[in-house]
Amino acid sequence: MKQNQAGDANRITREYFDSLLLESRYIDSDLPSTQLQLYGETFQTPIMTAALSHLHGICDNAMVEIAKGALEAKAVHWVGMGEEDEFEQITETGARTIKIIKPHKDSNVIYKKMDHAIEHNAFAVGMDIDHAFSGNGKYDVVCGLPMHAKSFEEIKEYVERSSVPFIIKGVLSVQDAEKSVKAGAKGIVVSHHHGIMQYAIPPLMILPEIVKAVDGQIPIFVDCGIESGMDVFKALALGATAVCVGRELMEPLKDGKDAVAKRINEMNLELMSIMARTGAKTLAEIDPSVIHFKTF
Ligand SMILES: Cc1cc2nc3c(=O)[nH]c(=O)nc-3n(C[C@H](O)[C@H](O)[C@H](O)COP(=O)(O)O)c2cc1C
Repeated sequence: MKQNQAGDANRITREYFDSLLLESRYIDSDLPSTQLQLYGETFQTPIMTAALSHLHGICDNAMVEIAKGALEAKAVHWVGMGEEDEFEQITETGARTIKIIKPHKDSNVIYKKMDHAIEHNAFAVGMDIDHAFSGNGKYDVVCGLPMHAKSFEEIKEYVERSSVPFIIKGVLSVQDAEKSVKAGAKGIVVSHHHGIMQYAIPPLMILPEIVKAVDGQIPIFVDCGIESGMDVFKALALGATAVCVGRELMEPLKDGKDAVAKRINEMNLELMSIMARTGAKTLAEIDPSVIHFKTF
């Protein structure tokens, strides 16, 4: 399919991040805590690793190495598609791992993957609903298996079947956010899956509307294009509970788990300095009104 550079959602998303400006609030401020409470557990940072897959060749055992990096940084770890034995190796590291399952046409494939993940100590499970279609007007086929759009009733079934929180990834509208909440999902990821659709709205641009619609009922995660502690801050200020970082961690991953943990920690320190300069002592105190839109 012909790609239109002007419609590159990754570029548009970067431009949107850079159009958000901050005011400062020094009086009565202090050094902050970035502790995150999620599904009854405590983490040191709201910076999580994104649901990645196929990292083979980046370094030895890269899918396991990134999980170890997240664990070292006391961060939540997410994983995308992959074989069962790989998932077992990942959770054996002790990393608190959220498993994202593809929208397989056959729900039995989904149930098998879900049951396996839960049996092997998944922290949560979920589905990237934005991977149903290909770019050529057909349903996608991933690793030989057909995908399909998921109905509200199907999502409700998956949620009800899961004994751990079930998360919908790939929400980019108030409509899908409201349906996810109504279906009983325990979280959503506002995401365009690194530009799966041209002219996709930047997740941060639609986030405030989604936050308003969800009204605190479930956590809202955000990914796509987060490259710095500043980007993390902007996502949190606009209402994200926590963020996922994918491509930014792939370069450090070449040097293994310690480099992944180091990059998460660096971004977290940058986040802390911005929280301090904007008067937020905890994640809950980050105030959306510190954000201004560049209009000049
Ligand atoms: C190599 C690679 C593999 C990915 N595999 C999956 C996957 O299996 N499942 C999924 O839901 N998302 C997958 N993603 C998408 C990420 O979870 C994320 O939504 C996207 O990369 C945007 O975040 P980023 O800009 O921080 O990379 C993958 C991304 C990359 C770069």
